[in-house]
Amino acid sequence: MRLIKTLLSVVMVASFLFLLGCKAGVDNPGKEFAPNMYHSVAYEPLSQITDQSAGTWVNSLDNGRGEYFNSNQYNPYRMNLRVPPPNTVKRTANGWLPYRALNDTTGLKAADKLSNPLDSTEAVLLQGKFYYESYCQHCHGAKAGGDGKVAQGVKIDGVDHSSYPGVANLKGDAYANITEGHIFHVITYGKGLMGAHGSQVSPEDRWKIAKYVKSLQKSK
Ligand code: HEC
Repeated sequence: MRLIKTLLSVVMVASFLFLLGCKAGVDNPGKEFAPNMYHSVAYEPLSQITDQSAGTWVNSLDNGRGEYFNSNQYNPYRMNLRVPPPNTVKRTANGWLPYRALNDTTGLKAADKLSNPLDSTEAVLLQGKFYYESYCQHCHGAKAGGDGKVAQGVKIDGVDHSSYPGVANLKGDAYANITEGHIFHVITYGKGLMGAHGSQVSPEDRWKIAKYVKSLQKSK
């Protein structure tokens, strides 16, 4: 009798402790029975495990494959992601197609006729000013007069930095009629002695700068 009582209390204490383990709280996800019944396995879009036996030691699946095998045998390259249709062109963040005019005189002529996709709002001009000051002002000068510090040459910490030759004075008559498309093209590919800035300045920011340059040309 005594033995049965002791055994019973041991079983009760053990089951109480066991049930305590089932409680889920803020920091405690609780214990789950057969979690792979209700948590689906996450698939990686590009990287996949094609070895069917990977993780067989933890396998609980009936199909005999390892737990870690996750490639898709029906898709190209066994990816989980589908490949895009042929000739798919990646667009910029705001849905524009990439700039495709070539870096030659024909491309520049075509660019002359492009119109700026952005509206002339105060915000666009302000952002254009910000990017002009970051990428252009040191050569072309605050007012686009071709008199930036790099164009003139400066002395920094006692070291002379020679002037950058031939920086265009965009306030000059020769440039009065250049279009925003022309400026966009020149920023993209550079021209003559000016280097390309296409890899550093996004297409949208180039259009903003082009607007700002035109406004600088018109200001006194
Ligand atoms: C390292 C100095 C330098 C920087 C930076 C620079 N430019 Fe230039 N830019 C030049 C020089 C030099 C020329 C003259 C090119 C030539 O005719 O050989 C020029 C010419 C131009 C022209 C006239 C092109 C034409 O049709 O002849 C435009 C427009 C222009 N730059 C705009 C910009 C803008 C906008 C930026 C900023 C994104 C910029 N540049 C940054 C040096 C620079």
